[in-house]
Amino acid sequence: MDRRAFLNIVGGGVIVSATPGCAILQPTPKQALTPWLSAGTNYSEPRRKALSYAILCPNPHNRQPWKVDLSVENQVILFVDTDRLLPHTDPFGRQITIGLGCFTELMVMAAAADGWEVEIDVFPDGEDTTRLLDSRPVVVARFSKNEITETDPLFQQVRFRHSLNTPFDTTKTVPQTVMDKAIDVAIHGSQVMGSNDPAMVKTLRNLTHESLSIELDTPRTYKESVDLFRIGKKEINRNPDGIDFSGRTFEILSLFGMFSRKVALDPESSGYKQGRAAVLENTTTAMAHLWVVTPTNTRLDQINVGRDWVRINLSTTASGVGLHPLSQILQEYPEMKSLYTEIHQLLAADGGTVQMLARMGYGKPENRSPRWPIDAKLVGESA
Ligand SMILES: Cc1cc2nc3c(=O)[nH]c(=O)nc-3n(C[C@H](O)[C@H](O)[C@H](O)COP(=O)(O)O)c2cc1C
Repeated sequence: MDRRAFLNIVGGGVIVSATPGCAILQPTPKQALTPWLSAGTNYSEPRRKALSYAILCPNPHNRQPWKVDLSVENQVILFVDTDRLLPHTDPFGRQITIGLGCFTELMVMAAAADGWEVEIDVFPDGEDTTRLLDSRPVVVARFSKNEITETDPLFQQVRFRHSLNTPFDTTKTVPQTVMDKAIDVAIHGSQVMGSNDPAMVKTLRNLTHESLSIELDTPRTYKESVDLFRIGKKEINRNPDGIDFSGRTFEILSLFGMFSRKVALDPESSGYKQGRAAVLENTTTAMAHLWVVTPTNTRLDQINVGRDWVRINLSTTASGVGLHPLSQILQEYPEMKSLYTEIHQLLAADGGTVQMLARMGYGKPENRSPRWPIDAKLVGESA
């Protein structure tokens, strides 16, 4: 199908006989978005209440790879769900661990807002950064009542935060003050830097574009993403995780067989070509970039990067600016090696690991991404 025919269909050139309640007329996957509305409201038990916010954290491919044990009073043991790792694009579990750091920070922040102090022990049974994560605990958190805990001003942004993966307005620059604010909220030891300098933005637009092309052109890394596509309201409500495609356009494309996981894997299909062009275009609309470096690359570093990352994202939410991670160039697989080296020479010339890289700018807001409720993530006996 050529581009004009495709746009005709998307633009309403096809008459669809839709009945009230059908996904084309009401495409929002409301059930999958409920955790955003209900955070903090359904539980009086302090750990569950804090966890109902923690599940709203950013995390790679929205895998939501957390498992939570509440069997000991006032204690949360956070495990990784080893069925939810990303072995091709995240072979050492570095990014998944960053996501678990984001989870930890929101749990601590929400508990503090509720008058509970939380003491954290990270990878108490040891760690191994040279391979994927295993079933050892990631974090043990002990809650104790403390009426004088302060509510972090960032907390009020938790239910509005988003990783904004739409094109940005290339006529609107990101003010330095917004970047400075985002950098200042990092309190867990990460080195956060950013640039809105046009020459640097151009360089990083090119590098992120090139690295995304490599990921799309490497069959096993691309398939890892496609396998996680959730297309349309029904699929998203049934599996509220992964990479979600919702809205009227995707309901129609899916209904006519023009967009599916199979189509996305066929490089000759117009669905593949349009999708590829759209994600690559995003990189070229970056108006600033922000990145995080750590001198060493331990699991504790990765957890702390996550704790800082979600804070940064909450700050950009408060400032009304979009933040969109572009992690491909930071990934540790052979096809990415030369670009990985180049970005490290550019952003971590004195050594260290670039843990996060994101573009910033002003874009059209989107639906928030789906979530499993916290009850779906509890393991072991509940206290
Ligand atoms: C470590 C890490 C790496 C990420 N890398 C990417 C990325 O390369 N591309 C992207 O579109 N989103 C990336 N994200 C954002 C996630 O896809 C996003 O957090 C997840 O889909 C949930 O959506 P939300 O943040 O809007 O709630 C990353 C997030 C984290 C924590």
